[in-house]
Amino acid sequence: MTKDYSKFFSRPSLKEAAKRSQEIIPIIREELESDPEIKEYAQGKKYLIQTFGCQANERDGEFLAGILEMIGYVPASNREEADIIILNTCAIREGAEDRVFGEIGHIKALKRQNPNLLFAICGCMPQQEEVVNNLLKKHDTIDIIFGTHNLHHLPSLIKEALYSKAQIVEVYSKEGEVYENLPSHRASNIKAWVNIMYGCDKFCTYCIVPYTRGKERSRLLEDVVAEVKDLKEHGYKEITLLGQNVNAYGNDLKLGYNFETLLIEVAKTGIERIRFMTSHPWNFTRGMIEAIRDYPNIMPFIHLPLQSGDDEVLRKMGRRYTSEEYFELYQTIRKEIKDVAITTDIIVGFPNETDEQFNHTLELMEKCRFDSAFTFIFSPRPGTPAAKMEDKISMEEKHARFKKLTKVVAESAIENNQKYLNRTLKVLVEGTSKRNKNILSGYSENNKLVNFKGSPDLVGKIVNVKITKAKSWTLEGEACDE
Ligand code: SAH
Ligand code: SF4
Ligand code: F3S
Repeated sequence: MTKDYSKFFSRPSLKEAAKRSQEIIPIIREELESDPEIKEYAQGKKYLIQTFGCQANERDGEFLAGILEMIGYVPASNREEADIIILNTCAIREGAEDRVFGEIGHIKALKRQNPNLLFAICGCMPQQEEVVNNLLKKHDTIDIIFGTHNLHHLPSLIKEALYSKAQIVEVYSKEGEVYENLPSHRASNIKAWVNIMYGCDKFCTYCIVPYTRGKERSRLLEDVVAEVKDLKEHGYKEITLLGQNVNAYGNDLKLGYNFETLLIEVAKTGIERIRFMTSHPWNFTRGMIEAIRDYPNIMPFIHLPLQSGDDEVLRKMGRRYTSEEYFELYQTIRKEIKDVAITTDIIVGFPNETDEQFNHTLELMEKCRFDSAFTFIFSPRPGTPAAKMEDKISMEEKHARFKKLTKVVAESAIENNQKYLNRTLKVLVEGTSKRNKNILSGYSENNKLVNFKGSPDLVGKIVNVKITKAKSWTLEGEACDE
């Protein structure tokens, strides 16, 4: 089926997406209604969603699954049997986008075998006008292109695509309302993502997220707490509070509460494990540290992205802290929270980063001794300020630095893991090994991946495990009674 024209309902603009209004974002509580016609079409048809991005994207994938099931679709177990395939994309680095372009090629081949297959692309990539233009120009196998702000329109977009046989594009640059009662199909029945806020207003100069996800908007505290209570009643053991920068939670609402208040209220629900992602080092308050320290169900694990250990680079990145301020916060967290694990993100090869500046990052990494770190080579994102900065550093040099960095990370990771040898950790068992169903794996309170022998019916339970072996990225142990 070749598309003969494109039908635009709205198309993105990064320039529009960069604007920030003072408007209060309305909350929509009405449940979605499904159109009988599309319900009849979708009954028993199969869907497949492939998610490429961060936890926010994974949660969006769960909403998309819920919406599709509401209108009658059922999950497909592979690509070949799917009647609709949705690529839920990420735009954070060029590599993430390349993976999606690779997938588009595979799906093209599937469409040749099954011309009735509907093919949709959503998520952060289509929030960029260049990407939409490129998709329309080169990929007429794509039936529907939509963005991060209109997941709830999926049923009507499917209907449009069926009727008009055109490529349907509906991407809003400006964030929409906060939807409270969208249906969702959660990927796990043990742990759950809980959005606490959407968007980001930090505008770090390298980052596309503030453009693809809109302005910071928080959910009401009572809505978050109600969701956590409901998850607890349904047997969930762990929840992760999600936001691009959770420290900013509540600022937009001006209702007198903030992330610290939220953490405490969520802890009081008594759910067994609470995590959160991600906290910016700027504005990480003393109160937050105390809440994590004082409530045993707030897990001692903090992902605290550093990005660079050099003050000039941090300033150019727009990160709002110095290396010294970061280190001070890091040490306070280590001192106050027992057995805390701290991980980070580092970008190497920011435009014109000198050897000396890179060495400042290495030195700070040596000092901090992180439990783990995600390291990335700077990827220019069109439309962001850093993409326009002059950059004379060769890719070869960037790769060499990247290698040096990963070596330091692996060393400090194993060193941290060795601290747990012969100690007993509480592990929430999430599953069994693919190769041997009597090897269980799960995470400790401070987010260490632990493998141990045990019966598969321990999946979903919190088990004491005595650690017998420490590797860089995993621990091994034996179940015990302590
Ligand atoms: N909101 C989170 C980060 C989300 S993106 C936070 O602020 O911590 C996850 C990580 O991707 C970032 O921490 C950063 O290290 C990396 N990243 C973002 N943009 C990038 C780019 N243009 N090039 C390379 N890495 C990038
Ligand atoms: Fe991107 Fe910075 Fe916002 Fe994180 S805080 S999402 S790195 S702009
Ligand atoms: Fe990627 Fe969008 Fe998340 S760019 S990291 S999926 S917010």
